Amino acid sequence: MPNSIIVNKKVRPFIKKISVSGDKSLSIRWILFSSLSNGICKSKNLLISEDIIATIQAIKKLGIKVILKKNSCVIFGKGINGFKYKKNIIINGQNSGTLSRLILGLLVNSNEKIKIIGDRSLSRRDFRRISDPLSKFGAKFKLKKEKYLPLTIKGTSKLVPIKYYENKGSAQCKSAVIFAAMRTDGTSYIRAKKSRNHTELLCKHLKLPIVVKTNKNYDLIKVKKVKQIKPINYNIPSDISSAAFFIVLTSLLEKSELTIKNVNVNPSRTGILTILKKMGIPIRLKNCKTYKGEKISDIKVKSAKFIKSIKCNPNINSGAIDEFLIIFLVAAKAKGVSFFKNLAELNQKESPRLKWGNYILKQMGIKTICTKDSIKIFGNPDLKLNKKIIIRNFMKDHRVFMTSVIAALSFGGSWEIHDKDSIKTSFPDFLKIIKQIRS
Ligand code: S3P
Repeated sequence: MPNSIIVNKKVRPFIKKISVSGDKSLSIRWILFSSLSNGICKSKNLLISEDIIATIQAIKKLGIKVILKKNSCVIFGKGINGFKYKKNIIINGQNSGTLSRLILGLLVNSNEKIKIIGDRSLSRRDFRRISDPLSKFGAKFKLKKEKYLPLTIKGTSKLVPIKYYENKGSAQCKSAVIFAAMRTDGTSYIRAKKSRNHTELLCKHLKLPIVVKTNKNYDLIKVKKVKQIKPINYNIPSDISSAAFFIVLTSLLEKSELTIKNVNVNPSRTGILTILKKMGIPIRLKNCKTYKGEKISDIKVKSAKFIKSIKCNPNINSGAIDEFLIIFLVAAKAKGVSFFKNLAELNQKESPRLKWGNYILKQMGIKTICTKDSIKIFGNPDLKLNKKIIIRNFMKDHRVFMTSVIAALSFGGSWEIHDKDSIKTSFPDFLKIIKQIRS
């Protein structure tokens, strides 16, 4: 089959140092903030993937000049009200929930209708979770079947501040509301279940009038009108969600050791490290520093001598939300039964990911009990595969593809894994790095 790969050889033990590509969440946020800034913004190590190119195309449609060379990028911001709203603008979010949801927060004062479209995967995802809070500011929405793309948004110059309870732990919803709240004359109040806080950290670094108070489960965020955003240069650290695949590969093999350099280890993103450490994987952070409010370090991981099962505390869920598929592979090799619950949000991703995680484990011969929001995984410390497994039709979910490849490299068997183009959305270098590890 075209666009599929065959993996039928395990990786031999290795000792390596690698770098993975730039953080996707930070890359998209840097582009959006830069487009609103008053001046020239430069980035290094921007992730160059389809989601990011779609973000650049979106701001270009709104009249912002961008020069992209290799992975350095220059954006000529035109100020907080600098977008040019021509008639009939269509923004194609392609596969990216982050782009398509965050940008709506910037468009709440548009004076023309703007249409947002996306690919098949994005078109089955929930946009009501964004249009509901943004409507309260005064923007008008039309959605397919009141929930889906394509949607149109028409903004207003008479935006009103809002009070908003974000209770899904969605950083996309929280961030879109922060962007919208910056445009009203009053003060908006957000009470958000914990989720990644890159938007808030960027606001703080830019000294915008936003105050965050945190308590155990919620953040209280107060947002006032933003008059100006100064230009921001950013050296994007590597993405822990991309590093995750190689962390797990190393931990599942024997006698291996891996260092991944300069990774964003923002505590709202390191759920995978917490979970794997509890399962007995030797992981250490080295060369820790803080850059523009973000914590960055090298991650050193070694093969696990013994993997323990885990009853995962749901408080960790949002900090590991993009990593559960790959974490499930570790549970597959653990001694005992692992249990992950309150994971309904996983089925809201590029594919119904909890179902896909369950499907991959079943193909591997692992016993599971999966409900609509939880999974029990009966681990097998002696797991070795020698059968043929085919993985396809996963709605272009890059993380399903990459998890399947890591399973094949760790447990053996003969795998035919489809749609390798899916990695272009978040991690185009994934297969190149595997070659590097194999060499
Ligand atoms: C993201 C937030 C998360 C995550 C996604 C990136 C972000 O989505 O799954 O990959 O950059 O804000 P939700 O906000 O839907 O949880």
